[in-house]
Amino acid sequence: MCGIIGCVGRGDGTLDTLLHGLSKLEYRGYDSAGVALVDDRSVSVVKKSGELDALREELAAIDVSGRVGIGHTRWSTHGPPTDGNAHPHRDCTGDVAVVHNGIIENYQSLRDELAESGHEFRSDTDTEVVPHLVEASLESGADPEAAFREAIGRLEGSYAIACVIAGTDSVFVARNDSPLVLGIAEDATYLASDVPAFREFTDKVVYLEDGEYARLDTDGWRVSDIDGGTIEKSIETVTWDPEDTGKSGYDHFMLKEIHEQPRALRQCLQGRVDELRGTVTLEELGELSLERVHLVAAGTSYHAAIYGAQLLQAKGVPAQPFLSHEYATSPPPAEDAIVVGVSQSGETADTLAATREARRRGAETLALTNTVGSTMARECDHVCYIRSGPEIGVAATKTFAGQQTALNLLTEAATAGQADRDVIAALRNVPGQVQEVLDSSKAEAVAEAYLDSDAYFFIGRSLNFPVSLEGALKMKEISYEHAEGFAAGELKHGPLALVTSQTPVFATVVGDGELARKTVGNVKEVEARDAPVVAITDGQSDVARYADHVLEIPETHPRTAAILTNVQLQLVAYHTAAKLGRSIDKPRNLAKSVTVE
Ligand code: F6R
Repeated sequence: MCGIIGCVGRGDGTLDTLLHGLSKLEYRGYDSAGVALVDDRSVSVVKKSGELDALREELAAIDVSGRVGIGHTRWSTHGPPTDGNAHPHRDCTGDVAVVHNGIIENYQSLRDELAESGHEFRSDTDTEVVPHLVEASLESGADPEAAFREAIGRLEGSYAIACVIAGTDSVFVARNDSPLVLGIAEDATYLASDVPAFREFTDKVVYLEDGEYARLDTDGWRVSDIDGGTIEKSIETVTWDPEDTGKSGYDHFMLKEIHEQPRALRQCLQGRVDELRGTVTLEELGELSLERVHLVAAGTSYHAAIYGAQLLQAKGVPAQPFLSHEYATSPPPAEDAIVVGVSQSGETADTLAATREARRRGAETLALTNTVGSTMARECDHVCYIRSGPEIGVAATKTFAGQQTALNLLTEAATAGQADRDVIAALRNVPGQVQEVLDSSKAEAVAEAYLDSDAYFFIGRSLNFPVSLEGALKMKEISYEHAEGFAAGELKHGPLALVTSQTPVFATVVGDGELARKTVGNVKEVEARDAPVVAITDGQSDVARYADHVLEIPETHPRTAAILTNVQLQLVAYHTAAKLGRSIDKPRNLAKSVTVE
């Protein structure tokens, strides 16, 4: 999704600061980029479709500078990714420049109205109405801040907006339903869609809430409400280092993040598990007890939600996973259910819509998220952080493992009865076992062996059913190859028709009980149709006899086995995509943080 950066107070370094910020926001996914700089009495705008390097090249060829600036990476919603549709957008005079993340729902009527009074539009975007609205208010005598406020007052929809106006050394900012955070340093003030954009310069942040405005000036910053009244905000300190957002020698963020999983899981468990006493404590949840649970999520987080619901059900808690976009528009009855929003970013519009709908109907809500200070964390009644650290690769990896781990903790901490000692021991071991898998995985050879396949299928039962869905999602999103995940038992009810010698089947088989025996039966079914089989297994069953390749995991509790099997599938997807030369960290058409519904 679009990324916004802005800064005031960096002097001659303004342009470099904006470009640095934009590069840190690349992970969000984008198709064009641009900057606006204010110098003396004029605003310069430079924007370009394509990667940031195209914008850098354009900037290198011209002389542009400014003391105050805003920048943007665009993920198209209205109009194709052209130079003209890239942000910033300007008014007719060229004195107002605006960047925007979100969707302005009433833009067509505003555009018609503005066009009728003589405003000329140069793009297909919804955003362009904003600078023209500001221009109209300035023309009718409003001062710059009032003109900005008036313009925002006309908008319906979701937005994080930053605006610069010639003749002021300020950036004007407004937020509704799209993330925005200020960065506060001694000599400069920043704003961005996400902290990594300015983390290099400061660890002090102020999160803006919906309906809030901010003005960043050379002598400070102020947050206000719609009427201009000052809102006192607390300054928070982020706990992670700027290096956490670099690649640390790995070819891709995704690979780095896959390898960071042992550390991420240790962080998730730290201080929450007491093996001697056999207890799990999530202090942030207080006395919260889970009697009936709805888990709402999208994408990878939805797969974690299925896994979490299975854990809770096994403890006797009625728990159901829901796709958040479905939940928001067709909510099921939720008497006494605690609604858990599972979201890495805490900013996914669909999942926020679901937790908001739940709150509107009086349900208690819990955010299970990685992002401290995110909208979901702030809006829900309770929050449980998964503590994975920043995840930059668009494909979620370490945060899925973090969600699985945190859902285990939640299940043990917030359901009736004693925590399961076997689970506690298994959780303690899981970071080391993930490391073992990473150190010994043969996933690269498997990826090489099946590079020219027609499609990739993933099957598993019980806790490995969501892992199969996740394995297929990882494969399709970063390799662009056709991949599907199924509950193993479902195969013969239709998907088996797709199975051929050109469709490898990745089967997760854990333990040697009934589930394993049944999945081995499914493996025999696909083998009989000549499909190559890759078994992801702890070696307890005889699945290896029927498999062309085996990806091993250490023996452990079934709950943590589903974390380890997933690591193998992450590596298969990564190596397949790497061998195919795909854009792994920024797959086509995808965005890290999906902030529009
Ligand atoms: C897939 C992926 C997406 C996200 C989904 C929800 O690798 O990253 O499917 O899981 O967009 O995002 P969050 O978890 O931020 O709500």
